[in-house]
This record gives sequence, structure tokens and C-alpha cells, in this order.
Amino acid sequence: MSLIRLIDLPYLGDDRGSLVSIEANNHIPFEVKRVYYIYHTKQCVSRGFHAHKNLQQLAICVAGKCRFLLDDGVSRDIVWLDTPEKGLLIGNNVWREMYDFSADCVLLVLASEYYDESDYIRDYSIFCKKVKQ
Ligand code: TYD
Repeated sequence: MSLIRLIDLPYLGDDRGSLVSIEANNHIPFEVKRVYYIYHTKQCVSRGFHAHKNLQQLAICVAGKCRFLLDDGVSRDIVWLDTPEKGLLIGNNVWREMYDFSADCVLLVLASEYYDESDYIRDYSIFCKKVKQ
């Protein structure tokens, strides 16, 4: 089974241009407590390299594109995020790496919890041990 859970986001564009609206607990399965965005990522930089114990997230490339690798300790899947009209749902206990950022990439992330460093698993071997328990 693929780890890639892409959601079609509600598109409300018209002849003036594009608009996407996302409602917590309606279009995505959690309350949004935090929003952050990653941009001006330098070429050849990879980010992420962690999993979360509890956090759920929706990642949207609102401009440009980047690639996500997701890993649940058993299998790995890779997907391009290259449209503002799709969001990638990432549940807890999923290792993620982001790379191949285009120069114009703006990666918006909606998160179910406030920032909490103790929710991170930043060591891949510890992650693999945890998910195999
Ligand atoms: P980091 O986890 O390295 O980002 P990425 O997973 O995209 O590579 O985050 C960089 C720094 O910013 C790190 O010190 C943690 C901090 N940070 C916050 O304080 N709040 C946040 O919401 C996020 C995502 C990061």
C-alpha cells in the first residue's frame, strides 16, 4: 500500500484567477494549530529527515515544486508536489525527506500541534526500531 495520501483541495478559481480554501476538520482530518512555510531553499539542499510521534501534517507546494520521500520503516514512496491544488497528508510515525526544491518553491505546511521538539524522532535507526516494536 502506498504511503502517498494526496488530497484534492477545493478549487474555487474563476475567470479572475485561482483560489483554494481549506477548512480544518472538513477538508483535512485535523484541527490546525500551526502553519509554517519553507521557501528560498538553496539548490541541492534536502530537509526533513525526521518523523513525528503524534503530529499530523498537510504539505502543499503553493508555488514551484519539490519532492517528498515518505518511509514507514517497511516501505518508501516518493512523490512530486508540484501543484497548489493537491495536499500531501503525512501522519505520525512516517519518516520524511524533502529535496529537489525548485528556486521558486514555497512549501506550506498545516500542522495539527504546536511546535514540540520532544515529538520529533530525528534518528533513522531509532525510528525503525520504534515502528517495528
Ligand atoms: P527543521 O526541523 O530543521 O526543519 P525541516 O524539518 O524542514 O528541515 O527546523 C528548523 C528549525 O526551526 C529548528 O530549530 C526547529 C525550528 N522550528 C520551529 O521552531 N517551529 C516550527 O514550527 C518548525 C517547523 C521548526
